[in-house]
Amino acid sequence: DTVEWEPEAAGKAGYPHFMLKEIYEQPESLRQTIHGRVDSINSTIELEDFEDGAFTDVDHVQFVSMGTSNHAAMYAAAHLTELGIPADAYMAGEYAEAPRPTTENSLVIAVTQSGETADTLNAIRRANNAGARTLAVTNTVGSSVTRECDESLFIRAGPEIGVAASKTFTSQVIALTLLSECIAEDVNETTNPGRRAMLGELADLPGDIQQVLDETPAEEIADALFGCKSYFFLGRGSARAAALEGALKLKEISYEHAEGFAASELKHGPLALVTEETPVFGVITGEDDLKTVSNLKEVQARGAPVIVVAPASLERDLEFADYFLPIPETHSSIAGVLANIQLQLVSYHIADQLGRPIDKPRNLAKSVTVE
Ligand code: AGP
Repeated sequence: DTVEWEPEAAGKAGYPHFMLKEIYEQPESLRQTIHGRVDSINSTIELEDFEDGAFTDVDHVQFVSMGTSNHAAMYAAAHLTELGIPADAYMAGEYAEAPRPTTENSLVIAVTQSGETADTLNAIRRANNAGARTLAVTNTVGSSVTRECDESLFIRAGPEIGVAASKTFTSQVIALTLLSECIAEDVNETTNPGRRAMLGELADLPGDIQQVLDETPAEEIADALFGCKSYFFLGRGSARAAALEGALKLKEISYEHAEGFAASELKHGPLALVTEETPVFGVITGEDDLKTVSNLKEVQARGAPVIVVAPASLERDLEFADYFLPIPETHSSIAGVLANIQLQLVSYHIADQLGRPIDKPRNLAKSVTVE
């Protein structure tokens, strides 16, 4: 007997799509990102090429990136700001409008999985011309961004074949969290008092991700919701980045209309679009998110199915929701990673129900090398 053998199918290791394989690889890819960099007992972080004091002179940080990488950068900018370091996340393609960095104390960080995104490379050239210090956070050793920037930090997620970014988002968020901690420690000359608790939870994050993957109700929810008119995603503060990323993933692989926005924006326009044909996803990860709950009740009163992604402990308080995607308890600054994985799975299953070519969506490329 002979066995049919397709090299591509072998690469998928039994999964129907690379994207699903990459979603399920996240406990392991995240372990690689963290490996050797974090000592949660002593609460220290070491990033290869960056010695203690490497960031002492930094007076502000600008992130430049596109798409999913931009959503990861939003988390990092919020984290740095919380630690007292001025930081902004710019869409690289809009960076020409940003305040120009002035000295080598301006740190401009390119966040790019491929390291080849034209908008991001151009933003870095602009920063270099202005005399800023430039740092690449990328998955790709030897990529163009590593040559354009003064320094590089690798996210070590392993190759990602699906056009939709999944495991690399998780690794970006966590690598950037570690980098942000190091920058703030050098500038503030003291360690973030919240670091110990955060690193303790980070050590458990691969296991928490596994739990999400093992227990997710995403497929049932996708079966109930696919084929609607539009899908909206709401989040406040750092949960807004998860909402934007949830919408990007869904539109990219399912071709369904999806929009993410700040929950606070709802009443300023988007609410007019809400009907029973527009499911609304709410991301609840922080303390300020109770206001998002009232926004969700508001859309539900207008007939929209409500799907909440939130810590499992809140399930009873959030009983009003039509569907619930639980995430294990963790530190609020990394909870977005778990929320996002639930949303990756919902998007995947909606796209699968609709029979889309998930790994290679029409009109899109893995590296966007023109502006
Ligand atoms: C993500 O799912 C998208 N395919 C896309 O938005 C991507 O994140 C963007 O093009 C940036 O790519 P990069 O990280 O390689 O720079």
